[in-house]
Amino acid sequence: MSAGDVDLKKRRNLVIAASAMGAVGAGFVAVPFIASMLPSERAKAAGAPVEADIGKLEEGAIMLVKWRGKVVWVVSRTKEMLTLLPELDETVADPESKEPQQPAYCQNPTRSIKEKYFICVGICTHLGCSPTYRPEVAPADLGPEWKGGFFCPCHGSKFDLAGRVFKGVPAPLNLVIPKHVYMNDSVILIGEDGGAAS
Ligand code: FES
Repeated sequence: MSAGDVDLKKRRNLVIAASAMGAVGAGFVAVPFIASMLPSERAKAAGAPVEADIGKLEEGAIMLVKWRGKVVWVVSRTKEMLTLLPELDETVADPESKEPQQPAYCQNPTRSIKEKYFICVGICTHLGCSPTYRPEVAPADLGPEWKGGFFCPCHGSKFDLAGRVFKGVPAPLNLVIPKHVYMNDSVILIGEDGGAAS
């Protein structure tokens, strides 16, 4: 096992659960009535956008953000991970993301706004299980062709690190990418994009 493999394993364990904040940060120091303008818990569950600070996410690590009662993943992809993606074009079912599983601004080779950050809903497109983040290259249980991605333990569907589903697995579609926008270099807003998706 190389030092890189060990490092990736460590990072895999570094799963940061980020709670939905919904613009609470500034509200605490502002005048009290601002609080009443913030999304209520019910509104957040119904679909209000949520903010996530991804500034501390280490390369290779994944972060979980709650949105609409689902989990959204944010993966900070390494340069090596990005380099391996094009090698999988022949083995994934929809390499160019032609199915509408993402906003138009993520219909590109990395399925993202910024190459580094992959953001998607962490739900398998087969029957809704939660796939596992498996960033290692060629682990014993997934075989020598595995270049890192997401593995669904329910029926064995596999997705690459852009959420593209492999051919020949039960899941029919790539993982869903929600609308999102960068508020600044380290904060994203999930569930809203100012109309950029339309
Ligand atoms: S739910 Fe993921 S493979 Fe069936």
